[in-house]
Order: sequence, then C-alpha cells, then structure tokens
Amino acid sequence: MGKNRIQIFDTSLRDGEQVPGCKLNAKEKVIIAKKLEVLGVDVIEAGFPTSSPEDYKSVQEICRSVSKTIVCALSRAVEKDIEMAALSLKYAKKPRIHTGIGTSNCHIRYKFNSTPEKIIEQAIHAVKYAKKFVEDVEFYAEDAGRTENEFLAKVCENVIKYGATVINIPDTTGYCLPEEYGNKIRFLKENVKGIHKTILSTHCHNDLGLATANSLAGIMNGAEQVECTINGIGERAGNTSLEEIVMIIKQNSHLNLFTNINTKLISSISNLVSESTGMKIQANKAIVGTNAFSHSSGIHQDGIIKKRETYESINPEDVGINESSIILTARSGRAALAYRYKKLGYLLNKNSLDLVYSVFLEYADKKKEITDTELKIILKQANLNEKNNQMLHTTNTTNSIRINVV
Ligand code: KIV
Ligand code: ZN
Repeated sequence: MGKNRIQIFDTSLRDGEQVPGCKLNAKEKVIIAKKLEVLGVDVIEAGFPTSSPEDYKSVQEICRSVSKTIVCALSRAVEKDIEMAALSLKYAKKPRIHTGIGTSNCHIRYKFNSTPEKIIEQAIHAVKYAKKFVEDVEFYAEDAGRTENEFLAKVCENVIKYGATVINIPDTTGYCLPEEYGNKIRFLKENVKGIHKTILSTHCHNDLGLATANSLAGIMNGAEQVECTINGIGERAGNTSLEEIVMIIKQNSHLNLFTNINTKLISSISNLVSESTGMKIQANKAIVGTNAFSHSSGIHQDGIIKKRETYESINPEDVGINESSIILTARSGRAALAYRYKKLGYLLNKNSLDLVYSVFLEYADKKKEITDTELKIILKQANLNEKNNQMLHTTNTTNSIRINVV
C-alpha cells in the first residue's frame, strides 16, 4: 500500500508570532519564510494582514519571496478582513485565504452574542466572499474542540457547498483528549457530505501538553494536513510543534504516512526561529532542546559509547545534529571521561584514567558540567608529569594533540 502524504501547514509566522514578546518585523519574517520553503512545508501562514500595517507588509513581502509554497493569510469572517487578506496575497503564486468563525456554544453566545443559524450564515458568506478573490479558501471552525460534532458537521457541510477547499478543526483551547479529537475527525470524515473533495486539517493547542498527541490522533483518523509551528511556539502553551509531528511520522513507518519535510534542516530552522523571536527553547524539549541528544549519566554514556541506539531512538543526524553529546558531570563514569579525552586527542591508559578520574570527580562535585578547558586543567592537576607520563599514551592520529604535561 502506498504511503499517504500529510501536508505541513506552518503557522509560526501567524499563530506562533502572536505571542507577547515575540514580535517579528517584515524582514525577519521573510528570512524565516524562505527557510520554511527550503524546509519543505506545504503552506506558510504568513500573517493576519488586517491586524497591523507591518503584518500586511510581511504577508506581501513573503508572497514576493517564495515561489513553490502556498502562502496563506488569516482573516475573521468579516468582509474588511477578507479584502485585506486578498490584497496582501496579490503577488502570491499560490494564495490561500484562511477565514472562519467560532462554532462552540461558548463562542456563539459570549463572543458573538449570536445563534447557531446566524453563525452558519456568516460562515457561508465569508467563504463565498473569499472565493471572489482566490480559489483556495480554508475555513476554520474556531473552538471546534468544544463544538458538538453534529453542529460542527453542519457548519463544515455548508462551507464546503460554497467552495471551501480546506476545513480546519482547531482545538483552540487545547481541551480535547487524543481519543476525543481523533473521533471528531473520524466523525467529520464519515458524516460530512463533500468532505472527500477537501483537505481536512488539524490545528491543536498545547494547554494540556496534548497538542502533538491530538494532531497525531487527527491524522490517524483521516486528517490530511497538520497546522503547527517551529519549536511549538504559539498562544499560551503553544501549538503542535512541527519537529515533533514530522519526526513522529518519519520514525513510525507503520503509520503509512510521509511529509515533504527535509528533516536535516530542522535543527537550524529551530535555532533561527528561537533567535529571531527571542523565545528560548526549553533544554528538554523533544527533538530540538539542547538536552535532546545529550547524555550525562554514567550508565547511559557507557551505553551510547558502545552503541548509539542503546539510549537513542532518533538519529541526531536525521534532524541536522552532527552527533550526540556526552556531557561530563559528577554522574559520569570512566568510559565517558576517556571518550571525551580521546576526542581532545588524549588517549589514557587504565592507570592514567584512574588518576585523572579521581581529580575529575572532585571538580565535577563542585560544578554542573565540566568543559574541555577544564579537562585540560584536570589533566595537569592529576600530575601526570614526566615521571608518571608512561601511564599516558598520546594518540598519533593527525588531529591529535601532543601531550606535554608538566
Ligand atoms: O486556534 C485557533 O482557533 C486559531 C484559528 C484562528 C485558526 O488559531
Ligand atoms: Zn491557533
């Protein structure tokens, strides 16, 4: 059976960027958009043009700067927003307008002071209006996670009738459990007339840490597109992280799914987004955190040195990281110490290693992590002088360092 392609819709520049302290200007957005295109995303949600002149300009500049990727602009179900979105997309080779409205009881009642019937009318009108400008119109049912499935199906069926090409089912508040979200997607697939002519999309927020699990449940139940952000940036606890969902798909061939992402570029774009937005990546973040491929306990280090797969299920090279790192702490053992010295060009025999290890432990107990510079100091302090230098073997590889311990 052939594999099914999952489209990756990146919203780092819209949902990701609409976070306090994370503002990007047009120039910064264009740099990231170009990288996203090279990364292989299918859609770049470039901004919300009606929100500010700079965001309008960003969308316009991004349209000029990318050629293969669909560029999408967000709007509410309001004519003025849709017009702005359409105008900003004027230079896009592949434009998409993303319009929609809240469909949960909570949104209908408190946000719009409206009724379900009026919401359907407004949704239809928005899609019809957007279709006047572009062929590709994505409809979002905001707060779909808390919308009853029957009503959600009715909304979707109506907007499809008027030309929506993509249907987005946001779990706006990160409310759903994976099983619940998966069932919602399956329900729509099975009950909405015309759904098979469209692309069904997931858009999950991470309020309970379930955004990636929910997106996965969505694609396992028939969704064809995942909306996500680099490093999972986004409102509150963020969105589904691109690197997580892409690597889950890559690592699990039995899912029979694939994406067009060049995973080897993940690490570099993750760093670029973090630096440009000022949003630091937590050290233990899956795939892109600094600890994601670092090992510090003696047992794990020993295993990794013997065979990487003992403590890693993902090959760091697959995400653009040259190799796993062995971090030297007070929990490290002799194997890790010898390994790191070897990398520095020092090959220690057993006696030398014993001597150096005891000095190392004294240092490591006082410090969080031992650096290469400190390793050289430790070597000196271990007093491997001319007298006991016979215990220390220099490596004779070309990139080795001759040892001259005094
Ligand atoms: O989370 C959400 O509901 C959204 C929509 C505007 C697509 O970001
Ligand atoms: Zn969102």
